[in-house]
Amino acid sequence: MALRKVIALCITIACLHDHVALCTEIYEDSNQPVELRVQDLLSRMTLDEKIGQMTQIERYVANFDVMKNFSIGSVLSSGGSTPNSSTTEAWQNMVDDLQAGALATRLGIPMLYGIDAIHGHNNVYGATIFPHNIGLGCTRDPDLVRRVGAATALELRATGIPYTFAPCIAVRTKSKGAPLAYGMFRKFWQGPL
Ligand SMILES: *[C@@H]1O[C@H](CO)[C@@H](O)[C@H](O)[C@H]1NC(C)=O
Ligand SMILES: *[C@@H]1O[C@H](CO)[C@@H](O)[C@H](O)[C@H]1NC(C)=O
Repeated sequence: MALRKVIALCITIACLHDHVALCTEIYEDSNQPVELRVQDLLSRMTLDEKIGQMTQIERYVANFDVMKNFSIGSVLSSGGSTPNSSTTEAWQNMVDDLQAGALATRLGIPMLYGIDAIHGHNNVYGATIFPHNIGLGCTRDPDLVRRVGAATALELRATGIPYTFAPCIAVRTKSKGAPLAYGMFRKFWQGPL
């Protein structure tokens, strides 16, 4: 058997076993250094794919086809934007469907779903509602705040969501055109300590 055929056969056999380095692109191989994986992936991407990856769209306009056709990198729920039913299962199914669209793209880059779980994952039926950050800040109890964050993270993951726009570390200041109270509840404190 010619050497080339032997090599081809070896590769075929190797590929029958999952996760063999020979069959994995560099960017997909978690054993490779991150910098190398990034370089490899970027070198493969078209301009359209880069634009899609840099775009975060609202869940209202997202579906399997949109994720796949436009290589969308991220989806968000803006305030109060939920699937038709707010059960855990409905959230899971929606996130899974969008993720399947992202994974069906040429390069199979997973999407990142983000949501305002600022005081609990409170658009999900049955999730724990915690006080707003300004109230938590008033407790002067950083350990309690940390545990609230951990509990919220767990409930987020139960719906398949890995990314929350919280905690928000900021100081609300008076600004022209915006009432002082607007957005105040998202911060842990109001003025200089
Ligand atoms: C996605 O692409 C498919 C195949 O070209 C097309 O049939 C479908 O209408 C497109 N959908 C969207 C939302 O772009
Ligand atoms: C959700 O509701 C909208 C508006 O009634 C409807 O167009 C859409 O098909 C529904 N989606 C699902 C997944 O049921």
